[in-house]
Amino acid sequence: MSVTEQPPARDPGHPDAAQEALQDRIAADSLTTRRDYLRIVATVSGGLAVGGIGVAAGVLHRHGDSEGTPEPKKIADVLPPGQSIAFRYPGDDDRAVAVRLADGTLAGYSAVCTHLACAVLWREDRGSEGELYCPCHEGVFDARTGEVTAGPPPRPLPKVLLVEEMDGSVWAIGTTRSGEGAKEALCRQLGEDRPDVAARLGCPGIGPATGERGERT
Ligand code: FES
Repeated sequence: MSVTEQPPARDPGHPDAAQEALQDRIAADSLTTRRDYLRIVATVSGGLAVGGIGVAAGVLHRHGDSEGTPEPKKIADVLPPGQSIAFRYPGDDDRAVAVRLADGTLAGYSAVCTHLACAVLWREDRGSEGELYCPCHEGVFDARTGEVTAGPPPRPLPKVLLVEEMDGSVWAIGTTRSGEGAKEALCRQLGEDRPDVAARLGCPGIGPATGERGERT
């Protein structure tokens, strides 16, 4: 794949600034080419709902309490519709699950039930498009949103942000706390590690980036 030239940096207030800022984040992780970044960026700016593209939802962390931004991690070479994969992210003790819904949407979540921490499982045969199910006390979570739909869990599942590469591989790139949005989570985690990128994302409380490379002065 070829890498196209980067356009000049935009003003932080420009509508496209957040997209470019996230491209920088992904580029820094050496994950993808610029063409690939565009799919990832579209996910965040579009509210993590670009199901047809296959980029999806959710961030998390212990599930949600990581110090700084977690390292990207490849979790699958490919994830076909109707299937799921269990993995650990961002730490080796952090159970997580990724599912591919029938319409192509990818979604990633903490697999630790918000009730009493039992393991949450993917059940393709339940509900209209599958469910995330906790067998301990019949807890059920919406596979598309992570929201509680039945049982005693008090909060939605924290999310794991997933992206799909051009070769079909699926990567975890970040996490959210329960009920936290993707941009909010990125801003929280990028605020200290990459204030220049956070500023370009339009994160509240972060001053505009200045200087040739975007560092604050
Ligand atoms: Fe999951 Fe109780 S631990 S429903």
